[in-house]
Amino acid sequence: MTKTAATATGASPSAKNFDCKDPALATEGVRRIEWAANDMPVLAKIRERFEKELPLRGIKMACCLHVTAETANLMRTLKAGGGDVVLCASNPLSTQDDVSAALSLHYGIPTFAIKGEDNATYYKHLQAAMAHAPNVTMDDGCDLVSAIHKDAPHLIPTIKGSMEETTTGVIRLKAMAKDGALRIPVVAVNEADTKHLFDNRYGTGQSTLDGIIRATDILVASKNFVVAGYGWCGRGFAARARGMGAQVIVTEIDPIKALEAVMDGFRVMPMIDAAKIGDVFCTVTGNKHVITTEHMKLMKDGAMVCNSGHFDIEIDVAGLKKMAKKEQRGLRRFVDAYTLENGHRIYLLGEGRLVNLACAEGHPASVMDMSFATQALATEWVVLQKSALAVKVHDVPKTIDQWVGSLKLETMGVKIDKLSKEQVEYLQSWQEGT
Ligand code: ADE
Repeated sequence: MTKTAATATGASPSAKNFDCKDPALATEGVRRIEWAANDMPVLAKIRERFEKELPLRGIKMACCLHVTAETANLMRTLKAGGGDVVLCASNPLSTQDDVSAALSLHYGIPTFAIKGEDNATYYKHLQAAMAHAPNVTMDDGCDLVSAIHKDAPHLIPTIKGSMEETTTGVIRLKAMAKDGALRIPVVAVNEADTKHLFDNRYGTGQSTLDGIIRATDILVASKNFVVAGYGWCGRGFAARARGMGAQVIVTEIDPIKALEAVMDGFRVMPMIDAAKIGDVFCTVTGNKHVITTEHMKLMKDGAMVCNSGHFDIEIDVAGLKKMAKKEQRGLRRFVDAYTLENGHRIYLLGEGRLVNLACAEGHPASVMDMSFATQALATEWVVLQKSALAVKVHDVPKTIDQWVGSLKLETMGVKIDKLSKEQVEYLQSWQEGT
């Protein structure tokens, strides 16, 4: 069942309506949002201050993020700061339907997201977020900023800035800037240390493995795991898979990253060789057709293929479907089988979309605490600018990164040393040597 206030009231779609799978899921959504909040103490601190200071008062915000319990706590924080916030999904398969219902019905944050929505609905939801005429936007993957530039450029003059959550989104924004196409200032939240060093590494590392296990219930120990890409996400996933006893093979195109993988103790080889020996394949590159039909033809019977990069382009799913002589959908939830001419079955997890969000719950709250604290503070920074920010891709100010890192440590009960006066002076001097 799909319920929209728009269809219920007969009104035309606008940002004040919402779209969720089933309003009855809201109660469960509230429970899960509150559970996640327990592990998000840094964000809670910001929320308390925002409630008092209302730094986002009068600001209309449109956010396009994975609709999860953790995102809900970020939305609550932005609203507590006085923001007039709407949310839509940043991926058709990552929405938690109970959270979508709870945000609209319990927290009063209009949310447009249904797990498994088709492409037309996905874009209708983006349009609904744009109909809010935002002054500030927040993206995970750059679909909202891209849609505003393409379909609603009239909104641009009143947009103060946009935050971007993920590597893929930052790559797209930098391409827009290089092309001279970017027309609003953006903040690359992904580039903050408190984001990529933790979220991408420990978050993706754990949640990707979690997604694979929930989808398939396989034993990880003894399996050959092939990890395509040794960026922060790839190295986090490779380390965790090894931790559970997998034999991990890394594929790379960057010589330095490949070298790091070798020195970290992994086997490194081209995908064409890995294809013959892998049991489980996972792409985390941000690039297109990393696993092609040529690779899949070489795979063992029963090989499992999935992706944890932002878009579903890393595996040539269309090619797989075309070359398969038989397709079996839903062998288990989010597991489809494709039988090739040679009789080998390839199992595709989560339709080739983000396996950690399609088949599990995304990154745990504790790590999203830092990413979303940084998002909230970057938003405040954009809003409090006295003059218009330059139209370019900005870094998060270092002070924000340091504050979030320090507070996270404090909430974990971890104390660290301080530089002594003598050490500060030593670091600033050049006279002392051998
Ligand atoms: N990206 C990865 N995990 C996430 C989560 N739990 N919430 C929002 N975005 C995410």
